[in-house]
Amino acid sequence: MNICVLGTGYVGLVVGVCISDRGLSVTCVDVNKHKIASLNQGEVPIYEPGLDDILKRNVEAGRLHFTTEGDSAIAKADIVYIAVGTPSAADGSADLQWVLAAARQIAHNAKENTMVIIKSTVPVGTSDKVLAEIRGEGCENVFDVVSNPEFLREGAAIEDFASPDRIVIGYREARSKERMTALYQSFIDEGHPVYFMANRSAELTKYAANAMLATKISFMNELAKLCELVDADVESVREGVGSDSRIGPKFLYPGVGYGGSCFPKDVKALISTANDAGLNLQIANAVESVNQDQKAFLFEKLIKKYGEDGIKGKSFAMWGLAFKPETDDIREAPALVLIDLLTKLGAKVSAYDPEAMPNVKATFSNAVGLSFVEDPMDALQDADALLLITEWKQFRNPDWSAVQSRLKSAVIYDGRNLFDPETLRQKGFEYHGIGRIKT
Ligand SMILES: NC(=O)c1ccc[n+]([C@@H]2O[C@H](COP(=O)([O-])OP(=O)(O)OC[C@H]3O[C@@H](n4cnc5c(N)ncnc54)[C@H](O)[C@@H]3O)[C@@H](O)[C@H]2O)c1
Repeated sequence: MNICVLGTGYVGLVVGVCISDRGLSVTCVDVNKHKIASLNQGEVPIYEPGLDDILKRNVEAGRLHFTTEGDSAIAKADIVYIAVGTPSAADGSADLQWVLAAARQIAHNAKENTMVIIKSTVPVGTSDKVLAEIRGEGCENVFDVVSNPEFLREGAAIEDFASPDRIVIGYREARSKERMTALYQSFIDEGHPVYFMANRSAELTKYAANAMLATKISFMNELAKLCELVDADVESVREGVGSDSRIGPKFLYPGVGYGGSCFPKDVKALISTANDAGLNLQIANAVESVNQDQKAFLFEKLIKKYGEDGIKGKSFAMWGLAFKPETDDIREAPALVLIDLLTKLGAKVSAYDPEAMPNVKATFSNAVGLSFVEDPMDALQDADALLLITEWKQFRNPDWSAVQSRLKSAVIYDGRNLFDPETLRQKGFEYHGIGRIKT
């Protein structure tokens, strides 16, 4: 089978690389010339652990290609994945302009018996829309548009794609089921469950999964605030709650709010889909607004300590900018909200992140008061406090006496509850976490 993947971003690149690693011939297409040029030079444009080795292996084996020439790649393909972006439109709905543009390009170039797979996260009814768009362009060569949402996590994308908890497939035609089974046969042989269903159910499954995970996070973040008010420790509560097998320990970690390219936009898009259908999703609305508030939670703590006027002229060291560790993705990252709030009040922020600094530099090129350092210890020099925003492993065990000697005041705001409050207090730090006991 010849595979074409339209969109070579975080998802399209991983899908293309990993499918080629299973012996299939794959051409990854992107409209971004720089991205394709660097991939053709063997450079991976995103940070995703393990991806570069698999990419190199399959390029060398002649199974994996990168091009901007979508028309010819589609014309050769038996299967065309759509893996382009679906960002939020101004009203919160998913903006489908790139998906529909891809559909038209497929319509103009597909050979007979082509099957289209939507990998992008798309609202209920999009596969119908894409099929209608293709037919509207006079194309009968595409026999079905399959919905196959992707559940990989950035930072663990290779493992997630290779060992999925499940593969969800929405389809119309019997031969789509056959072709999808052949495509994912090696995953089926390895025992990964495949759930075949109607397209609309598959589309909704992806949003339901992300909204459920976001709900767990927002619930714990709200509980962390309550813990502070009643002097309970959210970390103890988390352990006690997460050990219940009906609940489970994952996604219960309080922090500075969720970010990334998925949860925020997918919760909003789900709300928008429900609104269009005449239903107000009360829980999803609350999840979203709790998260917005949570991104400003550390800022509120800083205001409490220094006062609004006192923030001006203060210097803060910021460790971590990416929305989570093991990625350079800064989309909707809580760090950006905090930088914006602090610098607007005249504070200085000296920031460090192992992977995400180039992306932040590109986004905040003119931000007054924001600077970057190449060594996290340099960020601390004469700072009034350390703000820990992303829990990269390398931040876990710093040399605390070196930290203390560099900071102007030994104050830590731990936005991920990464450090042990007691240990730090014994070392002479003023420690502020999220939902921790005061003592
Ligand atoms: N990032 C994740 O962790 C993740 C996980 C699961 C699902 N998803 C979903 O996957 C989709 C893609 O997300 P992403 O993070 O990879 O986005 P991305 O922005 O990193 O990549 C999208 C790519 O598509 C390219 N593109 C746009 N139109 C094109 C066209 N007509 N032909 C070829 N290329 C085109 C863009 O240039 C870009 O490189 C989204 O719907 C997202 O919600 C993302």
